[in-house]
Amino acid sequence: MTRATGSPPVIVVGSANQDYIYRLAVPPGIGETVLARSLLKQPGGKGANQAVAAARLHGNVSFVACVGDDDDGASLIRELRSEGVDTSNVEIIHQGRTGLALVAVYDSGDNAITVIPGSNFSLTAGRVSATVSRIASAGGVMVVQAELQTEIIGAAIRTAEDSGVRAIFNLAPYQPLPADLLAICDPLVVNETEASSLVGWPVRDPSSAARAAKQLRHLTRSAVITLGAAGAYFIDRESTGHVPAPIASRVVDTTGAGDAFVGALATFLARGESFRKAVHVGVLAGTFAVGSPGAQSSYPTLADLNLVAPGPARGRSATVS
Ligand code: RIB
Repeated sequence: MTRATGSPPVIVVGSANQDYIYRLAVPPGIGETVLARSLLKQPGGKGANQAVAAARLHGNVSFVACVGDDDDGASLIRELRSEGVDTSNVEIIHQGRTGLALVAVYDSGDNAITVIPGSNFSLTAGRVSATVSRIASAGGVMVVQAELQTEIIGAAIRTAEDSGVRAIFNLAPYQPLPADLLAICDPLVVNETEASSLVGWPVRDPSSAARAAKQLRHLTRSAVITLGAAGAYFIDRESTGHVPAPIASRVVDTTGAGDAFVGALATFLARGESFRKAVHVGVLAGTFAVGSPGAQSSYPTLADLNLVAPGPARGRSATVS
């Protein structure tokens, strides 16, 4: 795929992992040994997934990350390049191995993930700040997730703010962060579990998400709570609402569906679309992603979602409302 170089950049700061996805009926109990049915080796990592999801929808994506000097690192970079992602800011680290994730997928389609961060933890705040401020000079958006150390997340968000670009923060997995950092996220994106950790009570459906969103609005500039099959709830200064998801024809594997959402949201915000429309496209992308195995391999193109690329003259257009 060629790069969409004309549009404002989507800068993704984040993790790249080699995913080992294994299928089994139900989670094993403590002390129990179970036999998996199958094993799939696929490119993953929340950062790389979001970069690919954004690029599939014609985002002009630059990925800022670290991989190891090993076969996994080389193949992750190759995959990203083949998707049209600019990997010139992916550093190859000579100590330690590329990040790795063990992804258990159950018959329900749900998953449980263990990440071994490896070279993802070699990113430095200095490099993130220097790279984000350089690329951000062209406008656009910056996206970061929480598979990184706190100081790296902080450097990414604060540099985006200082450079005048919108900082999208996917607080996955949940970790407590300083209030002044959350305050400048626009939006803060969380799922039900992460939202529950933030507000301190269970968020599980659109009505509890509506209450949680009002609470989050006091912590941050704007927020989205993703709700799986129930879509997403969003809030900012001007608007708030529930975006329902279309019914998925089949749920094969939910791995990386949240990353599909964030990548799509980022691309459509960078395009200048409204918050509601960007959330809507995110919900469509996340729903599409659960229909086939793996993360990046399950992400939609614009054609899959019946959307069109922004035209050079008018700037943008899409068939969704
Ligand atoms: O969100 C899914 C991703 O989480 C997987 O690809 C895995 O690598 C972990 O980062």
